[in-house]
Amino acid sequence: MPRRLALRGDLLDFTATPEWGAVDTPALRWRPDHWLLVEDGRVAGVQPGHQPPPEGWQQHDHRGRLILPGFIDTHVHSPQLDVIGSYGTELLDWLNTYTFPAESRFADRAEAEAGAARFVDALLAQGTTTAVVFPTVHKVSAEALFAEAHRRGMRLVTGKVLMDRHAPDNLRDDVVQAERDCIDLIERWHGRGRLSYAVTVRFAPTSTPEQLAMAGALCAAYPGLYMQTHVAENRDEVRWVHELFPEARSYLDVYARAGLMNERSVLAHGIWLDDGDRAALRASGAQIAHSPSSNLFLGSGLFDWRATEAAGGAVSLATDVGGGTSLSMLRTMLDAYKVQAMQGQRLTAWKALHAATLGAAQALGLGDEIGAFEPGRAADLCVWDWAADPVAERRMAVAQGLHEKVFAWITLADDRNLAAAYVQGLPQYERRGGAMAAVP
Ligand code: GUN
Ligand code: ZN
Repeated sequence: MPRRLALRGDLLDFTATPEWGAVDTPALRWRPDHWLLVEDGRVAGVQPGHQPPPEGWQQHDHRGRLILPGFIDTHVHSPQLDVIGSYGTELLDWLNTYTFPAESRFADRAEAEAGAARFVDALLAQGTTTAVVFPTVHKVSAEALFAEAHRRGMRLVTGKVLMDRHAPDNLRDDVVQAERDCIDLIERWHGRGRLSYAVTVRFAPTSTPEQLAMAGALCAAYPGLYMQTHVAENRDEVRWVHELFPEARSYLDVYARAGLMNERSVLAHGIWLDDGDRAALRASGAQIAHSPSSNLFLGSGLFDWRATEAAGGAVSLATDVGGGTSLSMLRTMLDAYKVQAMQGQRLTAWKALHAATLGAAQALGLGDEIGAFEPGRAADLCVWDWAADPVAERRMAVAQGLHEKVFAWITLADDRNLAAAYVQGLPQYERRGGAMAAVP
């Protein structure tokens, strides 16, 4: 018997990329009070709310709630839940003072497993159903993350972090052992269920040229691998990279020369890029995982989203916890709005939501799989309350038009608003005490 579920609510998704500044856009698909039909974990169709689903379909009636594709966080660190909100430093000091000590705990299997379970549950509790994740240098930390995501049927991209210099003893690998660990993890996890392996170079300063070359060779040897790293986040970091790699034209060029730039490359930050770097992004198809919360918290700088996109670079949105201060993609969208506002640009609700759903899916090469309510796509979705308190209720009631309402919703909503998160059509998160009406 196929598993058949019909979800009723206000469906919002995208069919194309919204233009900058447009509060009315044909890229938006808004279907208030509709049924979303889900068969065996995939979208089977959509029909108006007044038209009952076929006989025998289980019904979850979320009338009056917003149903969105699950959010995609394209850059986040699982072990760094333990360092969120660490006071007083910029990137390089922050890594040494807080982050490296916390990551060293993940050498222990029990710590890594408990941390991975805590992390994926925390993602789901914020409405994030897909993520591109940094664990730690320890093989066991990647294994634990793969296992916990697999258990929940989640799409997850991760890989053991590569770092063989400029880090404490218990956080360094070496080229030979790291390559062995990567190959073992790739063979066991890459393409298993909804999991993908990412060759995970922490950042240029913590890998030797030999390790970067090994990472590039892995990308070439195994089709479909992702590559994730950090680039041009902080001015002191950029200066250090120029000292370490004088032969490279730019920070990003260090990765290009090592064969690490391709359409499955996810580079966090990209604040201090030049036109040549943006052209290289376009030519390779690599994306920038814009991490506004982290950039503000660590005082790194203001990313120019519009210029990057105008140059043909793909941009997705990321929390970058624990540099970022919240796993919420809604908080991240609001921070992105503020970062653009500081540069005289305005990010619409549509650009923000698109970047966290269909836009990220397409940038990851998963546009046929997740990110929109198209027949055949995985039913990874979230059910949201429009308001969680009287202030938000009033704000929703006085909003004029859909853009105003959704923008104010992004601004005011948080995890209190999340009623349920479904992964492949199964509720993997339900708010405690929530009034989820299951109609037989
Ligand atoms: N650059 C290298 N490692 C990190 C990290 O863990 N967080 C951030 N924000 N930047 C980095
Ligand atoms: Zn990061």
